Amino acid sequence: MNAKFNVLAIAGSLRKGSYNRGLLRAAVELAPPELDIETVEFGHLPFYNGDVEAKGFPAAVQELRDRVAAADGIYIATPEYNYSIPGGLKNAIDWVSRPPSSPFNGKPLGIIGASGGNGGTIRSQAHLRLAAVNMNMFPMNKPEIYVPRAQEKFDADGNLTDEPLRKLLAQHVKAFADWIALFKK
Ligand code: FNR
Repeated sequence: MNAKFNVLAIAGSLRKGSYNRGLLRAAVELAPPELDIETVEFGHLPFYNGDVEAKGFPAAVQELRDRVAAADGIYIATPEYNYSIPGGLKNAIDWVSRPPSSPFNGKPLGIIGASGGNGGTIRSQAHLRLAAVNMNMFPMNKPEIYVPRAQEKFDADGNLTDEPLRKLLAQHVKAFADWIALFKK
């Protein structure tokens, strides 16, 4: 039997009907049996503030850091806001990245994303990848998933209905399981 890996998954949008939330939901459904994927929220975190940090991580931040530390890999579905990742997602990432011993250090990272525009999060994914390099994460290079004109691929409840995309997503999440396995050798 293949090893089981724990993956912590984050949707970068706070919106209930978010396409990225729907994309992540579909990834969880399509994941191979060797992945246990749990999702985590970040909307309740305070804004990063070095003065707050100096007094100790707030409980919600510490909880997120602990969950990241316990995961074998991180999987993020990011929207694109003004050609970059949303501020809320960046805030969560910034809190988790802080020393001592950043829980992101050395973690495999899978990135997917959906947007309303034609670029399909190509720019926000590139920004997230760059941040990951600074955090010494290992973002999977290929395959990539960019979902342009998301409104044509999800139903009114934000469920992914596009069959070719569901196939690609299944391949992506399987490739991520193989990517994590590389780091466990
Ligand atoms: C957007 N949107 C957007 N889309 C895009 O393709 N490129 C962009 O740069 C932006 N910029 C942008 C800025 C802000 C502030 C908002 C709120 C939106 C549109 C975006 O892709 C769309 O709202 C998606 O539906 C957001 O993802 P969720 O919430 O559906 O996951």
